[in-house]
Amino acid sequence: MNNRCVLVAGGAGYIGSHTAVELINAGYEVVVVDNFSNSDASSLDGIERITGVRPTFVEVDCCDKEALGEVFERYDFSSAIHFAAFKAVGESVAKPAMYYRNNLLSLLNLVELMSEYGRENIVFSSSATVYGDADVLPVTELTPRKPATSPYGNTKQMSEDILRDNVAASDKLRGIALRYFNPIGAHPSAQIGELPRGVPNNLVPYITQTAAGIRECLSIFGDDYDTPDGSCLRDYIDIVDLARAHVVAIDRMVAKLSEERYEVFNIGTGRPVSVFELVKGFEQANNLKLNYRVAARRAGDVTAVWADTTRANEVLGWRAERELSDTLKAAWQWERNVRGIKE
Ligand code: UD1
Repeated sequence: MNNRCVLVAGGAGYIGSHTAVELINAGYEVVVVDNFSNSDASSLDGIERITGVRPTFVEVDCCDKEALGEVFERYDFSSAIHFAAFKAVGESVAKPAMYYRNNLLSLLNLVELMSEYGRENIVFSSSATVYGDADVLPVTELTPRKPATSPYGNTKQMSEDILRDNVAASDKLRGIALRYFNPIGAHPSAQIGELPRGVPNNLVPYITQTAAGIRECLSIFGDDYDTPDGSCLRDYIDIVDLARAHVVAIDRMVAKLSEERYEVFNIGTGRPVSVFELVKGFEQANNLKLNYRVAARRAGDVTAVWADTTRANEVLGWRAERELSDTLKAAWQWERNVRGIKE
């Protein structure tokens, strides 16, 4: 079993591709599997342009256990990261079965194959969504999870439990669930980034597409929340900082540093930022004006959520480093690169 080799399931996607880059930069060998359901092969080209290394790639749907099993036959990675999930909250409400099937089955297959092949370490992409509308802020890993308000959120909670229970039932398996806050930005090289299909649901891609003239006007969903400027508060984490958290999580499990074989970490900056602040920050960082208006609240949005990152800082030795303005510059550079927009 090769401790320097990592399977990245969903490695052609937004978070997966940035993590592949950081793993390669840290000296890991990377095997990407992806079915391109929400990505394409251009991210593999981007990874290669940044690192000089093209990760091994196998086109596989992780819901197909037999096909995924063939990857286990061929490659002897000791660790795997599961990014192979759908992530649109609204879509999950409209198509719950599709979300439960894809998000849970792909993880179950991975967990079973890891045990069957005696592989040891799994990182799971969890989310701040597990905290719901938290009573006390910032949230720590001990903050009770609230009942999920969408099938997407439910799959994150259920997936954490699937990993926890399978680690408990094994004497070998280790698991780390990283609860991401709001991942944004792109690699500073502008070679990889977020490529949402259709109309973006998330704030930053909507902002960059508005700046690019693809969307006419950004709607700010609500200015009457109980927050200093009336808009929602979130913890926006730079995608490269987030990707690095996966590398330290893998390092920790490979080195068997922890007594506990299942661990959970919040991955955020620890700093709440409002929608208005983010929009103004984008305008200032990139020296442009954005067309926006205030609209009604969006159903299902929580007023505020941000992370207490003490555990990740102290136990993982990880912290968010990138300045928000640099993150917002990188987001715009990526969008410009994709659209062929000149300076
Ligand atoms: C949510 C989930 C997160 C999930 C993500 C994936 C929570 C707390 N978070 O993030 O787990 O990974 O969706 O889609 O459940 N906004 C606008 N205009 C827009 C878009 C967004 O004003 O056009 C505002 C929203 O109201 C919100 C903030 O921007 O206040 C961030 O929204 P978004 O980027 O969609 O992320 P979350 O909803 O926080």
